[in-house]
Amino acid sequence: MGKVIDGKKIAAEIQAKIEKDVAVLKERGKQPGLAVVLVGDNQASRTYVRNKQKRTEAVGMKSVLIELPETVSEKELLETVETLNHDDTIHGILVQLPLPKHISEDKVIDTISSEKDVDGFHPLSVGNLFIGKPTFLPCTPAGIIELIKSTGESIEGKKAVVIGRSNIVGKPVAQLLLQENATVTIAHSRTRDLEKVASEADILVVAIGIAKFIKKEAVKEGSIVIDVGMDRDENNKLCGDVDYDDVVSKAGYITPVPGGVGPMTITMLLANTLRAAKQIWEKTN
Ligand code: GUN
Repeated sequence: MGKVIDGKKIAAEIQAKIEKDVAVLKERGKQPGLAVVLVGDNQASRTYVRNKQKRTEAVGMKSVLIELPETVSEKELLETVETLNHDDTIHGILVQLPLPKHISEDKVIDTISSEKDVDGFHPLSVGNLFIGKPTFLPCTPAGIIELIKSTGESIEGKKAVVIGRSNIVGKPVAQLLLQENATVTIAHSRTRDLEKVASEADILVVAIGIAKFIKKEAVKEGSIVIDVGMDRDENNKLCGDVDYDDVVSKAGYITPVPGGVGPMTITMLLANTLRAAKQIWEKTN
């Protein structure tokens, strides 16, 4: 029977450390601040943003929410980002994606100061990640690496297969696994014989966005299975891209949905915000 990787518990432990750090800083009159910009009325985005705000406040950081209507112009949004770039009380800026179609996400991300890029989406952060320089790591991939390390199993030399090639998860997590000296394969919807490719993985990261897509035939006995999916099953119940009940007895370790990768994402955002604040203060002192 596979061991469950308890993302909720691991996230809570890291969050407790961040909270302590923030408390010490506040005693010195310094408070890290995160600004989240939400455009429009996407209900899923609204829920994500509310959770980010709650957790930011829970660790004692300043949390600012800027809500803009669906009809906001690109120019206005870019000006909002510029204002936050110059706001000394804000150390991290996150513009919730997706944005309305009339706004270029690339332009918005390019405008966020790379010093405050706590999502790790700015091209400078992405480039630094690619060449192995210290930078802000995108939150979900960073959380995934923490979860894999929490098993105590080494990553070095292992065969890792990442299913999914998005800029937010698939590509950066593959890069991080490579830095940990895994042998990495990126598979995707066009990969031939995906099941066979996946079944050879010692570490399998699934971020394809299809409910219960991975069955036990696609999983190697004793492997580490990380499920990034946030899907709904036939009963509208939250589930992952991995068919948990089918796979759990075959995997060595597995993340549940909910309670696996999800809680780590916001925790890494808080860690990035704390780091951004420290770096900015170091520079200005
Ligand atoms: N939309 C879904 N996930 C994310 C994320 O991690 N960051 C931002 N900015 N938007 C998202």
